[in-house]
Amino acid sequence: MGRTVLIVGGGGREHALAIGLVESPSVDSVHVAPGNAGTEAIATNHDVSAADVVGQVELAKSLGVDLVVVGPEAPLVAGLSDLLRTEGIPSFGPHAAGAMLEGSKDFAKQVMLDLEIPTAKVQHLTAEIDLDEAVDKWGAPWVVKRDVLAGGKGVVVTDNRDEALDFITESIESDGMVLLEEFLSGEEASMLVMMDESGFVALPCSQDHKRVSEGDVGLNTGGMGAYAPAPVATELVRSRAISEIVEPMHKHLSSQEIPYRGCLYVGLMIDGDGAPSVVEYNVRFGDPETQVTIPLIDSDLCELLLAVAEGRLADSMPTFSDNHALTVVLAAEGYPGPPVKGREISGDFSDLIDSKGRAFIHHAGTEIRDEKLVSTGGRVLASTGISSSLSDAQSLAYEMLSRVHLEGSHFRRDIGHRAL
Ligand code: AMP
Ligand code: GLY
Repeated sequence: MGRTVLIVGGGGREHALAIGLVESPSVDSVHVAPGNAGTEAIATNHDVSAADVVGQVELAKSLGVDLVVVGPEAPLVAGLSDLLRTEGIPSFGPHAAGAMLEGSKDFAKQVMLDLEIPTAKVQHLTAEIDLDEAVDKWGAPWVVKRDVLAGGKGVVVTDNRDEALDFITESIESDGMVLLEEFLSGEEASMLVMMDESGFVALPCSQDHKRVSEGDVGLNTGGMGAYAPAPVATELVRSRAISEIVEPMHKHLSSQEIPYRGCLYVGLMIDGDGAPSVVEYNVRFGDPETQVTIPLIDSDLCELLLAVAEGRLADSMPTFSDNHALTVVLAAEGYPGPPVKGREISGDFSDLIDSKGRAFIHHAGTEIRDEKLVSTGGRVLASTGISSSLSDAQSLAYEMLSRVHLEGSHFRRDIGHRAL
């Protein structure tokens, strides 16, 4: 009898996890709550929102699942994994205290300072502080971070003094404080690390494209595309990141009363000398990084995630393929502002397979309504190419995307530009 798994969430990341789990030899059935049109085609969707932690626990119990995989951060911060473990249900994703590494940037910063993990210096700003003086002391470019879960919209990086001051003032008004951080220059990479108290494994590093427009300009988004492995994370950079950042954090998290069991997303800035420092931690898989990382794992994904959820990763280390993966996000009109929703998506969605490799669609904000595929979010879907070379993965992804049509949508034509 194979395993039954529940995935919490409904974005592109969760579709990527669903594909990986459906393909796991050990899996019998995959459930997703709430899911999207992509997960509905390969698994069973349930109408329970990711934020409804009590509803998710009830669903997991009624399905008798062997494993819950939590996609987004909000239910983790709200204690979904804690509740599941109380019920004896293994959960991939940290408990609420561990999730504070993403839930509070201030808390994460303090942990890094205590462990001497390289990261940007920071100043706390409150209404009592002379803000003009603080802004002038740091100088441009300014990095301002709200200490709340803001769905990727809590950070402003700008050369414009007025914009920085406005965001500082608004944030202090709404949150009571805000963080002003040293600007780190270099190239970013995302290191997804699966960990539990028995060990950790760093997955192939990827690179996200956070700005909305080509050439890495414009507003910050949740991510407009990604590829892996990212060559900026050379073997030397990876080994430094592991010894200077991951190992001390793993040792710290493993010594806690409740150990960390899940994915620690380490957002790295790599300077010109190859020195890595931490831009942010997330307590979950990245989106769209997951779409280009899961396809590179050769091992049975369910057994791997279950091993982490049960604290026995050290005995189940995964193996990886030599392939390259690249994904291009198709965003709705208006994104990253309020997106236009409810438009029909048409085209040929069947997988593209040729001698160079393959490409397919990862759904994100999609749903079937009156037998039609319609958009329901800002990031609507992503086209993902897999090949033995990055340039072929890129051309496959763009060829696949050209078959899909959504009125008013936009995408970046330069995903992978730093590596190609
Ligand atoms: P965060 O939500 O903390 O990852 O910030 C969002 C994005 O802002 C990051 O991916 C970086 O591109 C940029 N960023 C954040 N902190 C810094 C920093 N200290 N120096 C330069 N860029 C930063
Ligand atoms: N792609 C960035 C994130 O998942 O936070």
